[in-house]
Amino acid sequence: MIRQNNFCHHNNIVKLFVYHTSELTPSQILPDTAAVIDVLRATTTIATALEVGAEAVAIYSSIESLLEASESWSPTKRLRAGERGGAKVPGCDLGNSPLEFTPEQMREQRLFLSTTNGTKTLQAVEKASTVITAAFINRKAVVKYLLEKDPETVWLVCSGWEGGYSLEDTACAGALAKSLLENGTVSVTIGNDEVIAAVALYSQWQDKLLELFYQASHGQRLLGLGCEEDLKYCASLDIINTLPIQREPGLLVKLP
Ligand code: MLT
Repeated sequence: MIRQNNFCHHNNIVKLFVYHTSELTPSQILPDTAAVIDVLRATTTIATALEVGAEAVAIYSSIESLLEASESWSPTKRLRAGERGGAKVPGCDLGNSPLEFTPEQMREQRLFLSTTNGTKTLQAVEKASTVITAAFINRKAVVKYLLEKDPETVWLVCSGWEGGYSLEDTACAGALAKSLLENGTVSVTIGNDEVIAAVALYSQWQDKLLELFYQASHGQRLLGLGCEEDLKYCASLDIINTLPIQREPGLLVKLP
């Protein structure tokens, strides 16, 4: 595994890349910073869980590994959230609806989480020097962090749905890219064509994100499961300042 850059620097030039799915993300090189996006709903849920007081979010690719790992944790200090196909997995405390995550229930709990695509994307880039998660709800916090940190290479890595592209994830990558490219301080350069495509998509839909979610295949899947309120929440821009950051592979905490 070659790192695109593995030394600290402050050169004020950020090279930005967008990848539509984890399958399209290079596997032989790593960026300085990877921002993982799964707007509907994993990265919206992770940011919300940490915002309302979760101690950390531990990510698992399978429900079996989640249940096994959580066994070693005190039952009074853990919550288990599992989602497959948009629905809650039997045996877990919660599904993947960010609206289920309340401060009363989440305070100082470790959240053990497994979702269909989002957790897979996090695992694809977990060896990058810095891994953060991004959604519309915390867009501003992500942009602020990236501009302050000024890494040489940034990948915005979308999750998509089972290998396919997702409108809502690429639109979020576009929202981040647009803010980064339009900032007046740090010079940001375009690393691949996907950046331009993502910005174009976001620019067209920025005033009607909820409508975009209604068109999106996973938006429709969630509507079919009765999750309309989730769509509204996930389409809300800049409503929280929490930035989830990986402390060790598979473990996300709130940036102190
Ligand atoms: C995923 O990881 O595929 C999603 O977050 C699915 C969902 O909406 O729960």
